[in-house]
Amino acid sequence: MIIGIPREIKNGETRVSMTPALAARCIHLGATVLVQKGAGLTAGFTDTEYAAAGAQVMPTARSVWKNAEMIVKVKEPLESEYALLQNGQALFTYLHLAAVPELAKVLLRKNVLGIAYETVEAQDGTLPLLKPMSQIAGRLSIQIGAYFLQSQNGGSGVLLGGVPGVGQGSVAIIGAGNSGAHACRIASGMGAHVTILDLDTRKLDMIDDVYRGAVTTLVANPANIEAAVANADLVVGAVLIPGAKAPVVVSRKMVQNMRPGSVLVDIAIDQGGCIETIHPTSHESPIYRQHGVIHYAVPNMPAMVGRTSTIALTQATEQFVVRFIEKGIKLAIEETRGIAKGVNTRDGKIVNMTVAKALGYVQ
Ligand SMILES: NC(=O)c1ccc[n+]([C@@H]2O[C@H](COP(=O)([O-])OP(=O)(O)OC[C@H]3O[C@@H](n4cnc5c(N)ncnc54)[C@H](O)[C@@H]3O)[C@@H](O)[C@H]2O)c1
Repeated sequence: MIIGIPREIKNGETRVSMTPALAARCIHLGATVLVQKGAGLTAGFTDTEYAAAGAQVMPTARSVWKNAEMIVKVKEPLESEYALLQNGQALFTYLHLAAVPELAKVLLRKNVLGIAYETVEAQDGTLPLLKPMSQIAGRLSIQIGAYFLQSQNGGSGVLLGGVPGVGQGSVAIIGAGNSGAHACRIASGMGAHVTILDLDTRKLDMIDDVYRGAVTTLVANPANIEAAVANADLVVGAVLIPGAKAPVVVSRKMVQNMRPGSVLVDIAIDQGGCIETIHPTSHESPIYRQHGVIHYAVPNMPAMVGRTSTIALTQATEQFVVRFIEKGIKLAIEETRGIAKGVNTRDGKIVNMTVAKALGYVQ
């Protein structure tokens, strides 16, 4: 199998989809690995390391896309990459198609076998390729929020951990899954007053067991969300319905009720965002202010820590890439239910029901 590793081009992206160590393993298993020149540099991996691993370092993105049977990427192809996609090519990456219908159309038109990291399932139904990046985004969301709360950055000037005699800042986290639980961990570690909300009470049970009352857990009904948001200096949106557009859980009215200079970090922006007033931002221009509240909605937050994120991501994708090489892509999909769940587009059709519904292809 010929695997292509293009350099990522999304704004501020620093991750690469394969480390030299993983490239060496793939080559050992009989694959050819084509790496675009400079693809690993922002994650601290040089062309020399890829070459030493046995990969072929290619001069351009075109030379990688054109010659690969399977493209392994980090982020979804951007518009300038649409023309590079080959007919019938396999693409293994984050796709988040519910948020980019125009990409879905391109994948269908080109009969691309689109396998989305975010819908690949482990045996227990969890999302092993989303988990590490969500954990990183969750942890980052609090340090980002704390940064923008600072007066010089336009924030309200609240120190999340507070100081004796003044009291702490308040953090409301909506969604207690991978990203929410890790946001909770950092916010709690900083000494903030943390409230975390979810519809799934099993998630709240887990948080309650760990923090033993030091974190407030609430069922995510509209009244509880409204109260938690109104009281928060920092709100983190961390909900997910796999494959679907994110539900809007924070309304414009709730945002209007927040104190000026407070901060919203919508991690769920890659699925469309869960805050009514949110729209995507970028590492270059990460925030905007609406109703006096700072909005942060970068869809590739883990790129802020490219080295850690690359290692975490590739350790998670490794078992699947190895299976594709050992079994061939089609058999790997047939034999492994979790990989089949990852297939979003195939032979010109959207085959993941939730994604198809989110895009309006089925009722
Ligand atoms: N912006 C980024 O850079 C970045 C990075 C990684 C992940 N993400 C995104 O973050 C989002 C969350 O991912 P995750 O791995 O934490 O998901 P997860 O499945 O682990 O957790 C999501 C939680 O949301 C809860 N939930 C669903 N609907 C809800 C609702 N209406 N109200 C309250 N809770 C609700 C679920 O019960 C679940 O506990 C996803 O969209 C993911 O793609 C973004």
